[in-house]
Amino acid sequence: MRLLGIETSCDETAAAVVERDEQGHGRILSNVVRSQLAEHAPYGGVVPELAARAHVSHLDRIIDRAITESGLSLNEIDGIAATAGPGLIGGVLVGLTTAKALAAALGKPLVAVNHLEGHALTARLTDGLAFPYLLLLVSGGHSQFVLVRGVGDYERWGTTIDDALGEAFDKVAKLLDLGNPGGPEVEKQAMAGDAGRFRFPRPLLREERLDFSFSGLKTAVRLAAEQIAPLTPRDVADICASFQLAVTDIVTTRAAAALAKFRAELPDAAPTLVVAGGVAANRAIGDGLRRVADEAGARLVVPPIPLCTDNGAMVAWAGAERMALGESDGLDSSARARWPLDSDDMRRRHAA
Ligand code: KG4
Ligand code: ZN
Repeated sequence: MRLLGIETSCDETAAAVVERDEQGHGRILSNVVRSQLAEHAPYGGVVPELAARAHVSHLDRIIDRAITESGLSLNEIDGIAATAGPGLIGGVLVGLTTAKALAAALGKPLVAVNHLEGHALTARLTDGLAFPYLLLLVSGGHSQFVLVRGVGDYERWGTTIDDALGEAFDKVAKLLDLGNPGGPEVEKQAMAGDAGRFRFPRPLLREERLDFSFSGLKTAVRLAAEQIAPLTPRDVADICASFQLAVTDIVTTRAAAALAKFRAELPDAAPTLVVAGGVAANRAIGDGLRRVADEAGARLVVPPIPLCTDNGAMVAWAGAERMALGESDGLDSSARARWPLDSDDMRRRHAA
């Protein structure tokens, strides 16, 4: 089964062709991503209207390239998958509408994919992972622990009550006048900094829940920066290092608790932690998660970074997993700005 996947929910215009064989093994035949970083750079963040317009301008060529690079013709594609949410609604509409047009013109099934499900199932494409496993999704828009029991069978164990982790990196970068996206910039600065200089708070860490909160930490960083302004390069590096240590502490403590819960609730399953989302690229957080997984006797799976960040292959793959279960969606499927992974309609679709 070969699917075209289309992703336009944020600032990446992406399309890919993925194959899934009868044993459930996946292979990426093409994977084309066009980042809109340059368009949004002057504004210091993603501007939804600009994002939607850029998707309109580029999506047809990106799809064309994905098809050409796959070595297939459009007629050899068995289904069209597109992100139908959650995300910036203008962008989602561009991708979903394009997918509907293709599906209608080619007479192929449409799969309206939940973007988070794309992230959640990627490790099965890259590592052939079996269910169940624990997913830590940390991106610019999401920070959550999800128990992945099967396709369409998700249980959210924790989420952020304010900012997403990537968003926290981006906001700290912004207040320190570093570039966008902030994560890589903060990480670069942190390498040269003294992580012990500032003791930033670790919000919620004394509570047992698996939720995150990063906005108080961001405020603490701002106050510390204002107190010692004007900042020298040394100050900036030390703030970044101290911030990164605080978030690493938070994420690793939570991951250890989540793995303990996994062991307790699924005693027969091999404990496995999958990390997805752009923040998975962070070395300090990655090293911390490796340590936690080792201590818990768990397997840690981090797909290649280009597949952790937004891409079309994860959408095509999620579509293939659904189609393999006999599922597809009508041309009346709607685009959704909000669409939690463990919502009832995700479950209903699976049961249907
Ligand atoms: O998954 P992603 O590409 O896009 C979505 O948000 O869906 O994630 C982007 C986020 C940004 O907030 C970016 O600052 C963060 O991931 N990020 C990082 C690093 N690389 C990207 N955060 C920390 N350290 C990094 N090396
Ligand atoms: Zn994403």
